[in-house]
Amino acid sequence: MKKIIINLGIITLLCVTFLVGCMLKTEDDQDIATEELSKADSYITVGFSQLGAESDWRSANTDSMLGTFTEQEGYYLVYKNGQQKQANQITAIRMFIQQEVDYIVLAPATEDGWDSVLGEAKDAGIPVILVDRRVNTSDKTLYSCWVGSDFELESKKITAWIKAYTEKKGIDPKDLHIVNIQGSLGSTAQLGRSRGLKNAARENGWDLMAEVSGDFTEAKGQEVMDALLKRFDNINLVYCENDNEAIGAIKAIENSGRKVGSDIASGEIMVVSFDGVNETALEYAREGKISCIAECNPLHGPRVEALIEMLGRGENPLKYNYVDEKIFSSLSVVESVTVDENVYEIERP
Ligand code: AHR
Repeated sequence: MKKIIINLGIITLLCVTFLVGCMLKTEDDQDIATEELSKADSYITVGFSQLGAESDWRSANTDSMLGTFTEQEGYYLVYKNGQQKQANQITAIRMFIQQEVDYIVLAPATEDGWDSVLGEAKDAGIPVILVDRRVNTSDKTLYSCWVGSDFELESKKITAWIKAYTEKKGIDPKDLHIVNIQGSLGSTAQLGRSRGLKNAARENGWDLMAEVSGDFTEAKGQEVMDALLKRFDNINLVYCENDNEAIGAIKAIENSGRKVGSDIASGEIMVVSFDGVNETALEYAREGKISCIAECNPLHGPRVEALIEMLGRGENPLKYNYVDEKIFSSLSVVESVTVDENVYEIERP
């Protein structure tokens, strides 16, 4: 018995030593970062909190940021991947404040819950630039400006395409049975794209049967599509809120023995999606497995840099900076769509 107690004591001691070691290492890492940062006096220091690495769009966005804020260009970038967790992003921002970076760039996972930490950045006098998605704060002065996509406009373009396509094919609006594989709930991209579809379904009399989140990933897209096919036997249009989900949904549809394509009248299931970054998705669009893609442009690095330069010169950039985006389809039956009086030519993927 005594021996067991001694052994347990030794194991506990080893565990405690290991844990303390880990904690010190974390603190050491942070010290090193702070020390390196103070060496970087001649650089413009930027803390970038990226929300995660869920999609090809996100990887392209991260590459654009890392490729822009380089030491050769006069920047010292501290990059933190939030792993899809807002708590990690908040911790990263607090670390940037402690390190006294010149600018904080935030790509927020979701819109709500940023007031306190952005207030801390404001009190520290550090300008915050939002990129890609937005935040929902009571005080808009908590961030300097935002650059990204008009997600609802992307949705209006794709739903205008669906309307034009189905009209040309003589498909009755109420025979359009749609499921929406949504993005990560509460993110600006999901909110805008889901709102756009809901409005279009109401206005056109389409049957929007279900909305389920696929978290912007291929694996979840496949999983939820699999479940939706078991739940409904009349799905003929899948609206995926990004290309990775579309690739997963196509796998599920093909595994179920159904055919993906634009010939709804003959029983094919039409897939539409957003981004136009992933090579497989673009290939699917060329083959007709994805009928239409509304572009979401991820190359924000140079755009954020331009905003930082303006702020550095003491200028006031526009608060909201929208990116121009295209719409792709290999089907020639619809040549253009008009949204809010603007005409968008349909481009080949
Ligand atoms: O916020 C932009 C969206 O986030 C992209 O459409 C999606 O692919 C990404 O994960």
